[in-house]
Amino acid sequence: MSKAKLTDRFGRTVNYVRLSVTDRCDFRCVYCMAEEMTFLPRQQVLTLEEIARVARTFVSLGTEKIRLTGGEPLVRKDILELVKEIGSYGLRDFAMTTNGSQLPTMAEDLRKAGLKRLNISLDSLDADKFHRITRTGRLSQVLDGIDAARDAGFEGIKLNTVVMKGGNDHEVPDLVEFARKKNVDITFIEEMPLGEISDHDRGEVLCTSDEVRDIISQHHELVPTPEDSGGPARYYRMPDSNTRVGFISPHSHNFCSTCNRVRVTVEGRLLLCLGNEHSVDLRRVLRGHPVTNEKLRETIINAMDLKPERHHFSSDGDVQILRFMNMTGG
Ligand code: 5AD
Ligand code: SF4
Repeated sequence: MSKAKLTDRFGRTVNYVRLSVTDRCDFRCVYCMAEEMTFLPRQQVLTLEEIARVARTFVSLGTEKIRLTGGEPLVRKDILELVKEIGSYGLRDFAMTTNGSQLPTMAEDLRKAGLKRLNISLDSLDADKFHRITRTGRLSQVLDGIDAARDAGFEGIKLNTVVMKGGNDHEVPDLVEFARKKNVDITFIEEMPLGEISDHDRGEVLCTSDEVRDIISQHHELVPTPEDSGGPARYYRMPDSNTRVGFISPHSHNFCSTCNRVRVTVEGRLLLCLGNEHSVDLRRVLRGHPVTNEKLRETIINAMDLKPERHHFSSDGDVQILRFMNMTGG
C-alpha cells in the first residue's frame, strides 16, 4: 500500500513523530524544570490507547520513525504495553529518550517489546555534580541503566549531554572517554530557552557546539561525517573508535531547513515546531463524538500548513517559549 505523505508549505516531508507519554519525571534537571513543578491532572493526559491511536494514524500517513519522550517515559504506568503496541508496527526506527533511572530493571523488557534505540541523558560523571544538575538523580543508578541497555542489545545507544559553561563543560573530555569505553554515541546539546528556570541565566552558561568541539579536538581528531540519524545533530567520527560525537546546536547552527518532525504533547497538542507555539488540539478530536479515524487523519494533514519555517531561539537569556521541555517532549 502506498502511504499518504505529510508535507508542509516549505516542501519538508514529516516522517518522524515524537510522542510525549508523560510530563512527570523522577528528576528535576536544572535546565529542564523549575524546582517546584505542577504536573497535569490525569484527565488532561492522553490514555495509552489514545496515544497508540495517534501513533497508528501517523504511521498510516507515512511516519517511519517514532520516539517516545517525556518527562521521563519510563515513569508512566504500563508504558511497556504501549512500547509493545508501537513495536508491532514494523517501523524503520523506534526510539526512546530516557534519563536512564529505570533502565536497570526495564532495559531488557523494552528491547524485547521492540524498542530499537535509546537516548540516555548523562550530564556528569561526578556523583555530586550529577545530583546537583538533576536535583534528585543518583549517578550510580543511571550508570547501571546504561550497562543494562548495552546488555539488552539495542541497535543504538546514544548519550545526551546538555553543556553548561562553568557547570559541566570541564567534563566534556571525560564524557567522550566514557562513551568510547562503553562503545556508545554521545551528543552534546546547546541549552534551549524552554520554560522559565531560576537555577541559572541561560545566556551566561551557553556553551556553543563550536566550543565543545574545540575542547574535544584537543584530545581526539574529529572527522565530520555526512551521517544523519534523521535528527538535527551533526556527527563526527574519531579514527580509532566506533563512537560518534554529535552536536545539536539550536543557537549556533540552525537546523530548521531539514526538519522532518513534529511532536505530540501528553495533552494531545500536536506541536509543529520545538521553538514555536503553533499547535493543533488532537485530544479534542480523539474525545469528540463521533471519533473517526478520517477526522484524525484530516486534522493531522491540515496541521502541516501551520508548521513554521524556523525557530528563533536567542541566547540573550530571554525566555522565548513558556513550555518546559517536559511539556514539549524533548
Ligand atoms: N535545552 C536543551 N536540552 C534540554 N533537555 C531538556 N531541557 C532542555 C533544554 N532547555 C534535554 C535533556 C534530555 C532531553 C530529554 O532533553 O538533556 O536529554
Ligand atoms: Fe526529567 Fe529529562 Fe527533564 Fe531531566 S531533562 S528533568 S530527566 S525530563
